[in-house]
Amino acid sequence: MATTALQYGADLDLPFLTMDEDAFAADPFPHFARARAAHPWLARWKLGYVVTDYQAMRDLFANESDMRMMYDSIVAIMEAKGTPWGNFQERHMLSMMGEPHKRLRDVLAPSFTPRRANLHRPLMRATIAELLDEWAPKGEFDFEEFASYFPITVMCRLIGASPDVIPRLRSAMEAIGLSTSMDPRWLPAMQEGVVTMETFVDELIAARRAEPRTGQEPDLLDLLMANNAQGELSDRELADVLIFLFVAGYDTSKNMLTLTFWELLSRPEMYRRCGEDHDYARKVVEEAFRIHSTTSNQRILSRDIPYRGVVLEKDSIVWFPLSVATHDERYAADAERFDPEREQVNRHIGFGLGPHICLGQYIARFQIHEGLHAIASRLRDPQSPGPQGYRPFPGTWGLRGLPITFTPAIA
Ligand code: HEM
Repeated sequence: MATTALQYGADLDLPFLTMDEDAFAADPFPHFARARAAHPWLARWKLGYVVTDYQAMRDLFANESDMRMMYDSIVAIMEAKGTPWGNFQERHMLSMMGEPHKRLRDVLAPSFTPRRANLHRPLMRATIAELLDEWAPKGEFDFEEFASYFPITVMCRLIGASPDVIPRLRSAMEAIGLSTSMDPRWLPAMQEGVVTMETFVDELIAARRAEPRTGQEPDLLDLLMANNAQGELSDRELADVLIFLFVAGYDTSKNMLTLTFWELLSRPEMYRRCGEDHDYARKVVEEAFRIHSTTSNQRILSRDIPYRGVVLEKDSIVWFPLSVATHDERYAADAERFDPEREQVNRHIGFGLGPHICLGQYIARFQIHEGLHAIASRLRDPQSPGPQGYRPFPGTWGLRGLPITFTPAIA
């Protein structure tokens, strides 16, 4: 019987990706295409391996017990053990693995079903309408800045927080969003961001305990506090989950909405239709997720993993750039074409894979959908000189500043 020789990844001459460079972030996808031409599924960058193929991502994630999260390593590299930021990174649910993670996920899942998220649509519509009432009369603004207020305002309303806190929380989110940059220069701001969030959620929980809401449909905070009252979530877990919901939903949603809008700037007919046709806007959002999702998952291997003739060594760091997978002709015909009507658009993996797949994905999908529909009906004929820069690719990728001018339409 023929045997396939296994080669250690370290011995292979793999394509090298300079993922952390500005020029890379400005146009990442041709780099990945070149890497795939040199090796069908694996590349390297300065912090480990990069998986470049859709099926390889799915196969490797099928056994998540072979991998572990790397937040504790990030904290160690940043020499921040025992600090507020370090403790939060080591404790939040994306750091948890195995049974403790499953238990927490099972407790939270009923509050994040598609049905629950759908109940939040009126709140999302009201939020984007109010933001547009405030911003649209200007006739010009930075779209990224505008977009940043949307997910944070939705999240505040989902938990009944006062809008007064939004500027403070937004600064904290901007700082905490730099966590995977592993750049010690940002550490003081990240520490301050976590302390701000801890104070905010402690006060929020205390206020709701002192004055419970009655006679209304429970909001997200009521649901989580009911889990806490039933002993399913400890006080610490409740606070950490609340903070993490903000962190997980901020950069990702803001960048995704901005990337989607940017994609449509050169497609005025599609953009116009998004404002008129609610269902078409949903298809555009799904296609935008296929072509531009913002995150890369990272894991550390818990053992040597043989895969397609290569052994990926124990303790290696492996990166999974999720949007890259569906830029591949094998998985999406005419993959570089932005086509909202394409079939199987749901095969994108922008919300991740495996046990940690995005808990807030329906909230994220619905708020970007409602946001895009409302924006396209209120900001007519948008024009832009283009993005002012790009967020680093290995963190939460996106545009840095997108100035636009437009004709405001009546609400
Ligand atoms: C465009 C928006 C979003 C994108 C692209 C996105 C993407 C992701 C991805 C890829 C993961 C898995 C990360 C990993 O396995 O390493 C994840 C996890 C998570 N996301 Fe999202 N996300 C988005 C919005 C949101 C929102 C709005 C919320 C909250 C309402 C949220 C809450 C979470 C939570 C709690 C987890 C951790 C799940 C777990 O560990 O079991 N996300 N997200």
